[in-house]
Amino acid sequence: MPKPEKHIFVCTQNRGPGHPRGSCNQSGCASVLDEFMFEFQKRDLGGKIQVTVTGCLGPCGSGPSVLVYPEGVMYGRVGKEDVAEIIEQHLIGDTPVARLRLPADMW
Ligand code: FES
Repeated sequence: MPKPEKHIFVCTQNRGPGHPRGSCNQSGCASVLDEFMFEFQKRDLGGKIQVTVTGCLGPCGSGPSVLVYPEGVMYGRVGKEDVAEIIEQHLIGDTPVARLRLPADMW
């Protein structure tokens, strides 16, 4: 397998209802992950961009959280409707989506 150009981590951490930290699972990460996988297959990006499901990335209250390397850009409150923009603008176009980036004091 060739080294991917970018690697994205989609948090799917689950915590029980009422947990004080919340979790990306409770904020809808499953549909975000499904959309990334669907778009990656549709666009045949598997050889260039790696998707990894991960546990907690830290900013739980701002999930669903998505982290992109090598830039180290953390996105928060990502919805299914944001996935195509992240792919086109950042993963392919190399320009992070400013409106979805978490502020520097959170990441
Ligand atoms: S539960 Fe997803 S960032 Fe913590």
